[in-house]
Amino acid sequence: MQVNATEFIIVKRDGGEHRAEELGDFFRGYLRGEVKDYHVAAWLMAAYERGLSVAERVALTRVIRESGGRLDLGGIGAPKVDKHSTGGVGDKTSLVLTPLIAAMGACVPMMSGRGLGHTGGTLDKLESIPGIRVQLAVEEVVRILERHGGVFMGQTEEIAPLDRALYALRDVTGTVESVGLITASIIGKKACEDLDGLVLDVKWGRGAFMRTVAEARMLAQSLVETARECGICACALITDMNEPLGQSVGNAVEVEEALMLLRGEKVDERLWEVTLRLAEEMCRAVFDEEGGEKWREKLEGCLRSGRAYERFEEIIAAQGVSWETIRQLPGSLPRAPERVAIRARGSGVVCGIDTYRLGRLLAGLGAGRVRVSDAIDPAIGLYIYKHCGEEVRAGEAVAELCVRGSVETKPFEECFEVGEGPVEERQLIVEEVR
Ligand code: URA
Repeated sequence: MQVNATEFIIVKRDGGEHRAEELGDFFRGYLRGEVKDYHVAAWLMAAYERGLSVAERVALTRVIRESGGRLDLGGIGAPKVDKHSTGGVGDKTSLVLTPLIAAMGACVPMMSGRGLGHTGGTLDKLESIPGIRVQLAVEEVVRILERHGGVFMGQTEEIAPLDRALYALRDVTGTVESVGLITASIIGKKACEDLDGLVLDVKWGRGAFMRTVAEARMLAQSLVETARECGICACALITDMNEPLGQSVGNAVEVEEALMLLRGEKVDERLWEVTLRLAEEMCRAVFDEEGGEKWREKLEGCLRSGRAYERFEEIIAAQGVSWETIRQLPGSLPRAPERVAIRARGSGVVCGIDTYRLGRLLAGLGAGRVRVSDAIDPAIGLYIYKHCGEEVRAGEAVAELCVRGSVETKPFEECFEVGEGPVEERQLIVEEVR
């Protein structure tokens, strides 16, 4: 049906509510090329400013789901479970959870995204492994899941293509931090997967799209309710993102850290805890409703025995990585030629880390995108040596940049806020929304 795109934008600009059919017509018109990127960019800004009602969220979620096909996993006997994060800095948990939960006996079709705004994306991180393919045909996804129980995939022309297009536009139009748009984006693609359970990691804080716990709670409720409207049983954990998760931020450097975790090394307490809590929830969602805690021992055993690591190797081999590259990991990951220390600007305690700015600065160096067409440089990244609450001396290295050529360190140093302390303790996992 012919759409009057301008009228549609004006309705939202003026605070009106769209009917489900109108939303469907507008976005189907977009997929056919009749509605242009500039129309959608304007509508996204109007939707960001005015918000989406519950009915509009559900309608947009369904339009995203129906924009392509669905994964038919009916032939796979194992229960299907996935996890999704609302976006953070240094969050590499998906890289670990996919093989870990697959090794526990579930089927994990991990449909992830690329970096968005200041946050990183699982697909960008994975693509630092030479040879890997994450844009897979549906038949290939099903084949890999049947054999290995897990797969890393993106939205494709076949699955949720509308999310792929909107995601890229939101990234460059300042329209990411919206409860309605995030909800439709996440649930729209997860609803294509034929899931028995979905676990959501809703982040709050200085490095998240939701800056307060109250906003994160609103997003968590919106996600869980919209998932239910689409027939998916979901639960959410609200977790802290006031500082990067783990000891690295970037792409290759995060894969390197994920590999250590997959080998059972507790490199970073916060990263270990968030990963294992999400893993427990995933097991609880599909194996046993009752005691999530009892899974902890089994999950840790799976990591420490090397079973999760082996599963990771099998999955990435099935996605195109040669066994020679796999055997040489992490040595086969790209490395930046220069290492530059980021030094504390005073003595005392790290009182805070401006995680949003850190993410933006790294994206500016090539670890993320500033424009849709930007290519990622997988070798660019940051190792973090000091987290919130740790003591530092003036001039001591708090982090180290992996870069090409020279770089101005002052903006990075300013991200590490040093003061007298004491630093208020924050809860890592704030609450659950079921
Ligand atoms: N992850 C998504 O898939 N979409 C968003 O909008 C934010 C995080």
